[in-house]
Amino acid sequence: MSLKRRASARAHPNIALVKYWGKRNLELNLPATGSISITLDTLQTETTVEFDPQFKLDRFELDGQPDPARLPAVSACLDRLRQLARCSHRARVVSHNNFPTAAGLASSASGYAALVHAAAAALGLALSAAELSIQARQGSGSAARSIFPGFVEMQAGQLDDGSDSFASCLAPPDHWPLAVVVAITSDQAKSQSSSQGMELTRLSSPFYSSWLQDIEIDLPQARRAIKDRDFELLASVSEHSCLKMHAVMLSSKPGLVYWNGATVECIHAISSLRQRGLAVFFTIDAGPQVKAICLPEDAEQVALALTAIDGVQRTVITGLGGAACSLDQ
Ligand code: PMV
Repeated sequence: MSLKRRASARAHPNIALVKYWGKRNLELNLPATGSISITLDTLQTETTVEFDPQFKLDRFELDGQPDPARLPAVSACLDRLRQLARCSHRARVVSHNNFPTAAGLASSASGYAALVHAAAAALGLALSAAELSIQARQGSGSAARSIFPGFVEMQAGQLDDGSDSFASCLAPPDHWPLAVVVAITSDQAKSQSSSQGMELTRLSSPFYSSWLQDIEIDLPQARRAIKDRDFELLASVSEHSCLKMHAVMLSSKPGLVYWNGATVECIHAISSLRQRGLAVFFTIDAGPQVKAICLPEDAEQVALALTAIDGVQRTVITGLGGAACSLDQ
């Protein structure tokens, strides 16, 4: 192990426009399909990892509190990197999110991306971005995308060992600097993890196989929309992907209902803004928050409209963000 034992990194959440919901291998956390996302700025996780031969156990602290519930998953991530570095030292991991955790704002994506980036550096491992993406994926599927900036595509891959299941950058943020207005309708952590929800859907939704098949149509359309900066096409493919994902969630047994009343009001408000000529569309993940994607010049107007809705606690305006990066000199 190199002398450097402590490293810090920052990563941003990402929001999928073509969603993934379902796994082809639970143990390796391999997605059943590809997905396309945008990495955000403003929202971020910062994580410091310190390996020390004196430590008896791994410790994990999130936003100033020990977090024993997440510790096993954090340790599993560290174990994979310790194995690569042939190091057995335990670690102290201190992480901060500047936004609510586990409420559908992709905190696990930025969390695992920052964790693997910092831990690999602290262990002296020189991993490529694709290798970091593979490591992050094993913590959380969407985290594989948060290693990269701007517009990002995740490959489901075909190999059993998952070595071809990683993300890459489709276009940097300045290719098409879109804005995202996040309407926060609840600060409560969700009661069920995405992995549990995905398994329930895979096993019980009668629409699961059509959902998987349709993603193969959505992916090339979204790629084309991004390449041509075709807002209408991106809006149509993204809203369709989001609503199809929620359709398989709702049709699971028992049904997964991630929305609250304000979530639905936001959908209607965004549709009527679009009818009035504004370039804006919505997407929603496994939680009640609504993300409105729009042109930067319209972001204030979209935020005003969403803030006026009963149940919307606040809005956050973000742009497209950068790759996971080191915070060390
Ligand atoms: O990162 P995971 O495996 O917890 O799943 C995230 C799933 C969605 O956010 C709902 C969709 C996506 O593609 O990000």
